[in-house]
Amino acid sequence: MSGGTNNETTTVTLRVHRFTPRAERERDRARASSPFARKSSPFGGDSARRRPRGKQWVQDYTIAARPEDTVLDCLLTIKRTVDPTLAFRYSCGHGLCGSDAVAINGTPTLLCTATVADWAKPDAPATDEEGFRHTGEADDADAPAGGQPDGCLGVIELAALPGFPVQRDLIADIDPMLEQIKKLKPYLQADGVLATTDDGKVDVFEYLQRPEQLARYELLSNCIACGVCEGSCPVFAGGEAFIGPAALIAASRFINDSRDTAAAERLDAIDTADGIAACQSVRACTRECPRGIDVGEEIWQLIAQVKER
Ligand code: SF4
Ligand code: FES
Repeated sequence: MSGGTNNETTTVTLRVHRFTPRAERERDRARASSPFARKSSPFGGDSARRRPRGKQWVQDYTIAARPEDTVLDCLLTIKRTVDPTLAFRYSCGHGLCGSDAVAINGTPTLLCTATVADWAKPDAPATDEEGFRHTGEADDADAPAGGQPDGCLGVIELAALPGFPVQRDLIADIDPMLEQIKKLKPYLQADGVLATTDDGKVDVFEYLQRPEQLARYELLSNCIACGVCEGSCPVFAGGEAFIGPAALIAASRFINDSRDTAAAERLDAIDTADGIAACQSVRACTRECPRGIDVGEEIWQLIAQVKER
């Protein structure tokens, strides 16, 4: 984060909801000594997933930052120069892999595309050097009530992606979503007979498609399984009550692909109580999709397709 032509230093405060899981051995000991410990879940599978136990706290980090820096830039600065114990996940840094979805100021979104300028709240309560927040009337000039010290761009509040169990700090366990996507067979199922040439050699087998057929699912194929739509959905809770918008988008991508021959089976698979029937059409899933997919509308189209069968 090199400085620009303007030498004035600005700062930002990242207010991070942190979580450290209880060590395995400690957990096992606590479980073994409890007369109420449940040996196994009567439901099995994912429903046996426990709410992680551990230490939770909120920690403020104030660092030098520019308005155009991303929140990921700020976290990397903290990790490298202030607190190596802070845990978060990222990979591409360019909005392409979907690995860094968190809640920023309560809104699910990607760390790498969120800028300080867009998310810093200048009127959030400041903290003093000991880390205490100012509430009510401030009596020192450096921390006015409901405002930040001079040069501070504001506070950005970070928490792990809602709707999923937290593994550590800003890292959520998104396996429940990936399992739901896998259940809907997110791969092309097409009748393909391998063609051979006249002299018996394997020929390329092409699945021809017109541009207008490609246009029906092209945007859906850009889904990066980031989980932002799931974290925004009030019905999805990382459990089994609702298969979730990301899985439905994965299904829709193949249902709308003219080459796929399993559309009927795919529609059957989502026509269940925990499938599209569980969607309440709140459409919160659409608001922050980083790939510009109108998730709510796509699910609405699926509902229509299921009804029309
Ligand atoms: S539909 Fe959008 S928000 Fe949902 S997982 Fe895919 S890319 Fe992320
Ligand atoms: S790090 Fe890959 S999408 Fe943000």
